[in-house]
Amino acid sequence: MKALVTGVLILLLGALAVSPVLGAGSGKVGKEIFRSKCRSCHVKGGEGGDLAPASKTQMQWRRFMKKDQHRIRPEVWKGLAPQEMDHLWRFFYENSLDSDRPHSCG
Ligand code: HEC
Repeated sequence: MKALVTGVLILLLGALAVSPVLGAGSGKVGKEIFRSKCRSCHVKGGEGGDLAPASKTQMQWRRFMKKDQHRIRPEVWKGLAPQEMDHLWRFFYENSLDSDRPHSCG
């Protein structure tokens, strides 16, 4: 019995390790964060221009989240908690241009 539990745990941990960097984010929460922390600048005619999950592919979002990290305005990124990034990342990823349900408005 103990071996079974250990086996299941190892499988679960393995699944977590291979999943892309999605972490434990929730797309629904990510959407709220996007609205409250990003839409102030990212609307048509706004400082950052219109932006939605479907503005980018999953690869492009990955690059942005991992590498770019909003280099143009680093203070925006510093204002985000790691958990908030997980949520945002999932929202973008699940609704990106090449996803099953691209989301073209925030
Ligand atoms: C204070 C204003 C401001 C806020 C808040 C802001 N951004 Fe930006 N963002 C900008 C500006 C300015 C640019 C550069 C736009 C350009 O190059 O035309 C930009 C660029 C970007 C880009 C690149 C756009 C592209 O076409 O490649 C992404 C992605 C992005 N922001 C995501 C976010 C996310 C996610 C948030 C919320 C966590 C956020 N931004 C919040 C101002 C902001």
